[in-house]
Formats: sequence, C-alpha cells, structure tokens
Amino acid sequence: MTSNYRICLLAGDGIGPEIMAEARKVLDALALRYDVAFLYDEALIGGCAIDETGTALPGQTIACAQAADAVLLAAVGGPKWDTTDPAKPRPEQGLLGIRKQLGLYTNLRPVQVFDALADASTLKPQIVKGVDLLIVRELTGGLYFGKRERIFDEPGSGANGSSGQRAYDTMEYREYEIERIARQAFDAARNRRGRVCSVDKANVLEVSRLWREVVHRVHEADYADIELEDMLVDNAAMQLIRRPADFDVIVTENTFGDILSDEAAQLSGSLGMLASASLGDGTALYEPTHGSAPDIAGRGIANPLAQIMSVEMMLRYSFGMNEAADDIRRAIMAVLDEGWRTGDIANAETPAERVVGTSEMGDLVASRL
Ligand code: IPM
Ligand code: MG
Repeated sequence: MTSNYRICLLAGDGIGPEIMAEARKVLDALALRYDVAFLYDEALIGGCAIDETGTALPGQTIACAQAADAVLLAAVGGPKWDTTDPAKPRPEQGLLGIRKQLGLYTNLRPVQVFDALADASTLKPQIVKGVDLLIVRELTGGLYFGKRERIFDEPGSGANGSSGQRAYDTMEYREYEIERIARQAFDAARNRRGRVCSVDKANVLEVSRLWREVVHRVHEADYADIELEDMLVDNAAMQLIRRPADFDVIVTENTFGDILSDEAAQLSGSLGMLASASLGDGTALYEPTHGSAPDIAGRGIANPLAQIMSVEMMLRYSFGMNEAADDIRRAIMAVLDEGWRTGDIANAETPAERVVGTSEMGDLVASRL
C-alpha cells in the first residue's frame, strides 16, 4: 500500500523558491522508487508573507505546518524588508515564530566534509579532512526569546547627558530547557562516537553556570557511558578551526549555536552545504542553515545541496525512510565525485564545463537516485 506524507513547503524569499524546486525534484524521483506519495501544501513565510498579508507568519501558515507530517523550509529575508524600526514586521519573525509555535527546541546541524570538497574550504585540506560533527543548538530559548525592550526617550541615555535611547535583550534558561536539550545531545552521541562537548560562557554568565550544572547532572545520572567535556565559547570558536576533526557532538544555547554553526559550515567549504533539522514534540521542520542570499536570487546559480540534504534529514527523522535518505547521500557524493560544482564550491581547478546552475545540480542528483 502506498504511504502518504503531507509536506508543508515554505519556500520564503530570495533563492528560496529556486532551491525548493530542486528539493521537489528529488522527492518526486524518490516517490516513484519507493511507492510513496508526497502531498505538497505551499504556504507563505517571511518577506513574501509580509507583502501579501502584512505579517511574516500568517495564521494559515501555522495551520498548514501543524497539519503536515513535516515542514520543509527554504529561506527568509532580504534587503527589501530590512529595518531597525521595532514597529515594522521583519521576515525573521516568521522563522522564529514557527520555531516557537511548533515547539522546535532541538536544532541538529550536522557538518561533514565530503572528501571531494576537502579543497573547497578556506582552511587547509589536512585540517578539514574527516570532519564529522553535529551541532545540537537549543532553538526556543535564550536571547532570541527573552524579555527585550527599546526605550526611546530616556533622560541621560543620549550623548553628553541628554535624553536618548536604550535597549536590552535578556538571556534566560530554565532547568527543564537545559535538561531536555542535553538529553538530545547525549542520545545523539550514543549513535555516533560517544563524545559531547558542552559550550558555554560559565566564567561570565549566570545562565551558563546553570547550564553547566544541569548538563553534568543529566550526564552523571543517565549518560555515564558518554564522554563529556565543557568548553568556553570563545575557545570553542578557536578550536573549531584549529582541530575541527576532534569534535563529535557540540551542544550549546541558541545564540552561541547560531554563531558556531556558521563558522562550522565554512569547514565544509560553503554555507550552501549545511542542512538542519528542528525537532520538538510534534511536527518537525527541515531547512538549510544558509539564508536567502538576495544578492544571487533569481539568477539560477544558488547551491541547492543544503536544501536537498534537508530533505534527506526529513526522510530520516520524520518518515523513517532511511534507505531513501541513504540514496540521497550517495547521489550527492556521486555527483561531487564526478566533479560537478555550483559556483560557491568550485575553485580555480574546477573545469568550466563542470560548474553548473541550481537546476542542473538538482537534475544531476535526481538522475542518480
Ligand atoms: C539560522 C539563522 C536564523 C537564526 C535567522 C535568519 C533568524 O541565522 O537559522 O541560523 O538566527 O536562527
Ligand atoms: Mg544563523
């Protein structure tokens, strides 16, 4: 009997629609092979939603996501909607809103360096070769969702004692929030190389001291088989480019995870190679880690591989289609081994005829499934 999977597609802005089209090609190719039906529901998020409805996350989009078996998102944002005015809607509110609405507190960002791309990184090939790490980023707490305020006219906050503006954001974590993300990291490590590095700033931040205590408590109680190490975030930023292959699982709070995951993406040569899964207790969401790249939008040159690898994660985590997920991985590796590159992962030695656009790259992967 054919299984049906309902997928809420949120293409968003910039290169979003272009890379989403390639993800669909891959899904459609797999549907034929595995006798499953993927049913697509498209909805608006981000800048396009603001233009259309005045808000970055319309109620219809939330309903569409909640009704689906999984959500596949591309990217949001662009200069058209950039503003520092707190009264105006911003595309990123769509992304943060859906993470919160779906309770997606676990963000998994696997970083692997494909052998074929070891020379695409700005780091030396011998440093990035064999990198295989997983960032487990807490996604619904910390500075992103803490109490914040902009005070517009405060005596003494301007220059020379005049009245001016003041703003603050707050970083806050509750024990249960730390405990559940720590468990996710330890569980993930059990299926990998059994090592967790917990990243914090416990020499300065109270939140980090609580973080460290809770992570160790969970470790001692239930995960004594896992090797646990603490690392301060500034040091982690350095070690990530100094000896990246030594890391297995990195667990950290929302903001640190945001920053470290962009840094880690560069190990694999391009932000265009990093997929992510956001999991909670209900419907999960899958998206590339990169943004909407407005500078190259509409030109057909964006790298669709992170979007396609997000499909791979969706098949694995939401649909239990591990074989199909393995097929995607193998297809991508084959295409890269044959030397095909989008512009972002090409280098001086790449023959011009092997540099392809978004749609060709999608066709290549789909044809090798
Ligand atoms: C990411 C992005 C988002 C974040 C932005 C677009 C709000 O950078 O997913 O890493 O900061 O979480
Ligand atoms: Mg980011």
